[in-house]
Amino acid sequence: MNAAADGGAAAMPKPDANSENARVITADEYFQRIRHTHVRACKWEGDEWKALLTELGNDPIRHAERRFVALVNEDHEDLAGASPGIFIGIQMIHPGEHVPNHRHNSVAIYHYLQGTGATTVEGQRYEFKPGDTIVCPAWAYHEHEATVDEDVIMYVAQDMPEMAAKRTLFFEEPMGLENVRHMVQGTSKSWSATRDPDAE
Ligand SMILES: [Fe+2]
Repeated sequence: MNAAADGGAAAMPKPDANSENARVITADEYFQRIRHTHVRACKWEGDEWKALLTELGNDPIRHAERRFVALVNEDHEDLAGASPGIFIGIQMIHPGEHVPNHRHNSVAIYHYLQGTGATTVEGQRYEFKPGDTIVCPAWAYHEHEATVDEDVIMYVAQDMPEMAAKRTLFFEEPMGLENVRHMVQGTSKSWSATRDPDAE
């Protein structure tokens, strides 16, 4: 065999190291698998999320942007959310706290349960009170603040789990192009709960 025929050693394809996860299945098996018949309805007790959120609220190193609990239906396994497409979190902001300006390519819908304050989206300030709802479009800068002497508690819905599963979820947090993070393993360090408050 001459060099042109075998392509030379440098042109040889590398052995396929990942093919153990490759499988060819029939249409019958495929449609059995995508039915997800094991997924049940799910109810989360208010007392449970309130207790956990209160606990987080007492953690002195936790900052407002990461002081939330998530409602997860474990039947969806690693698609962590209330459904494969929808994340629901309940976030607490202490009086006087400020969630710094940031953005993500998931849409966020905020429904305010308790407290008053303001959410600013792309420079437009919206004051809120219990019962109000604000939607923040994908990749729009936004920030939150609690302005009175009471914790703000808000429901947050985002189309995040499906985006994460497709590896298309991005954050810029806090604002700053150097802080753009692709939400896959190994691309960024943690922000907020473990950040050094003296570093700001
Ligand atoms: Fe956000």
